[in-house]
Amino acid sequence: MAMPKNESGTTSLSGLDIAGAFFAPIQEAGPPSPTKRHIKISIIGTGNVGMAITQTLLTQDLADELALVDALPDKLRGEMLDLQHAAAFLPRTKIVASTDYSVTAASDLCIVTAGARQIPGESRLNLLERNVSLFKKIIPPLVKYSPDAILIIVSNPVDVLTYIAWKLSGFPSNRVIGSGTNLDSSRFRFLIADHLDVNAQDVQAYIIGEHGDSSVALWSSISVGGVPILSFLEKRQISYEKETLVKIHKEVINCAYEVIKLKGYTSWAVGYSVANLAWSILRDQRRIHPVSVLAKGFHNIEDGEVFLSLPAQLGRGGVIRVINVPITDEEADHLRGSAKTILELQEHLGL
Ligand SMILES: NC(=O)c1ccc[n+]([C@@H]2O[C@H](COP(=O)([O-])OP(=O)(O)OC[C@H]3O[C@@H](n4cnc5c(N)ncnc54)[C@H](O)[C@@H]3O)[C@@H](O)[C@H]2O)c1
Repeated sequence: MAMPKNESGTTSLSGLDIAGAFFAPIQEAGPPSPTKRHIKISIIGTGNVGMAITQTLLTQDLADELALVDALPDKLRGEMLDLQHAAAFLPRTKIVASTDYSVTAASDLCIVTAGARQIPGESRLNLLERNVSLFKKIIPPLVKYSPDAILIIVSNPVDVLTYIAWKLSGFPSNRVIGSGTNLDSSRFRFLIADHLDVNAQDVQAYIIGEHGDSSVALWSSISVGGVPILSFLEKRQISYEKETLVKIHKEVINCAYEVIKLKGYTSWAVGYSVANLAWSILRDQRRIHPVSVLAKGFHNIEDGEVFLSLPAQLGRGGVIRVINVPITDEEADHLRGSAKTILELQEHLGL
């Protein structure tokens, strides 16, 4: 039997105010300190990716409140209750959920993962049309209820949808970030670490550009324990096979397809990747992450407004600045090629 609620919302047993009976008020109490910070994160879409992000955020003790939104009310309530039941093992976080966007009000960060799921073999760009119409329903209410929030877009194709979210939100570009190649770079670091039998956290390496098939691996950026690996090998005249590098990059690109083929979706790595971005932003870490940002003006991308991943410094205001990373002419051509493809797609959307 459900226990009745008293006026203050606490549970009462046989009309007895348990909280009132259990606690005695303190003497001469004033109003709560105005310095109290309440961090609220909203996650839109409680599918595999949304829940992996939520679960990672919970273990990180980053937010005071997590608000979940999905279009499926039963699944949404089920996920909320399941997480609430872990309260005894986690830092205290209020978890709320609703199909109504008012539940997201006053969020510091909104993470959008809602979307049509990628079908095995389907390219990310094919998902576009299905997801743009979803975003027209999602972004305006998020903006209405949290006009000062930072948006992280995860749904694919992430670079185009970050542009769509930016346009629909009317936010300045520093407050709209695509999770971009943060995940690709983590896969890259894992594969290099595995190859050299070192810890992936000691490997610095960046994948930039489009999240997916036309990403660019910055080979010259790879360092292990602070040692730039390619120039080290060249200085010592140690030969290495260029094909190995190409193979590692191909593996990064194929990773997602392989995981989707094997288990139907990807979730854990993107969960950690996005929770890591949330941490850098809300804790003002000023760390460098390859994320999808407005790339106009970088590497001679001049033709239009396009979001692509570049190494960006993230903090409490969102994107603080972008590293002007030296890249080869070939890499710059590749980047501009991705920008052109994405721009052509955006033109069809007529936003
Ligand atoms: N950027 C990345 O690195 C990355 C990595 C993995 C997956 N993804 C993308 O993330 C997205 C989600 O993947 P998934 O595996 O969680 O899919 P999923 O199908 O498990 O979850 C999608 C969720 O969105 C919900 N949804 C649909 N319409 C909605 C609406 N109008 N409002 C609120 N919620 C709505 C669905 O009910 C569902 O729960 C996909 O676009 C996928 O391609 C991105």
